[in-house]
Amino acid sequence: MLKPEIEDGQASLADPQFRADVLAGLARRPRAIPARWFYDRRGSELFEAITELPEYYPTRTETAILREAGPAIAGHAGAGRAVVEFGSGSSTKTPILLGHVSPSAYVPIDISGDFLRDSSRALAAAHPGLAVIPVEADFMRPIALPAKVANTPKLGFFPGSTIGNMTPAMAIDLLRAMRTSLGEGAMLVIGMDRIKEAAVLVRAYDDAAGVTAAFNLNLLERINRELDGTIPVEAFRHKAVWNDDRARVEMHLEATRDVAFTVDSRTFAMAQGETIHTENSHKYGTRDARILLRGGGWTPVGEWTDPAGLFAILLAEAQAERPAP
Ligand code: AVI
Repeated sequence: MLKPEIEDGQASLADPQFRADVLAGLARRPRAIPARWFYDRRGSELFEAITELPEYYPTRTETAILREAGPAIAGHAGAGRAVVEFGSGSSTKTPILLGHVSPSAYVPIDISGDFLRDSSRALAAAHPGLAVIPVEADFMRPIALPAKVANTPKLGFFPGSTIGNMTPAMAIDLLRAMRTSLGEGAMLVIGMDRIKEAAVLVRAYDDAAGVTAAFNLNLLERINRELDGTIPVEAFRHKAVWNDDRARVEMHLEATRDVAFTVDSRTFAMAQGETIHTENSHKYGTRDARILLRGGGWTPVGEWTDPAGLFAILLAEAQAERPAP
């Protein structure tokens, strides 16, 4: 998911999909650019910094829950499954899960080969004897897993509340794709951020040190750098709002004055107060999370949270689907 675009100080050719998404997103109303484009090298560094902020509770809370829940997850899953991680693997959470479930193999799936290779090498070095089989693919669609794990039961891993960055419809499509990739009988460990007091949620996405603001504004810097843009970045401000109707924190970039700029030779004008919508981070109550999983073809079999109920890790199983009722 994380894609460096600058190598040795040289700007590489812009990703055609980035160009298409930005041009289409700036032209439509409301203006919106997909959050996946946050993660150039600088954006990835800023996201790492966000995960350590005092206001950003999800990462440390999920890590603590995983430590506590590890033995119970292992009890449900049993030993010898192939752990299939959707994303390149996190340096802290993945080893915690692997350490508990005695896997027969570890299969990280990511669209970015660079990050996949780096994190796989590090994991293989830390777990000698474990078969690490990276797969470079877009996990939003069903994937044919390596033949080596074809007959091994699977344990999917999707931490970080990344599912929250998708609309519920996209999240259900993804859960269905995961079910198809992993097969009937598979299990899935998934992290979801809980609904809570709006002020706590907004603070987590608008920290006092301004790191999340820099993360959001970096998207404009990236557009200027890679798509030959002239966006006056200083004329935009970071905005995080809780949308209660949709149960999500939204991030926007708001024009603080009337602006006109070009991107890839196309001209855009924005009035003061107009925004570019850059991210959704959906939050799920306990029942919401279970309904989402069921909608995606997964039966919840376990759920763990922290004492304050900020975040949840759910374990679900791809059971044979029965026709309703
Ligand atoms: C990656 N994702 C789960 C983060 C989130 O909380 O939605 C991205 C993020 N955006 C701002 N802060 C963190």
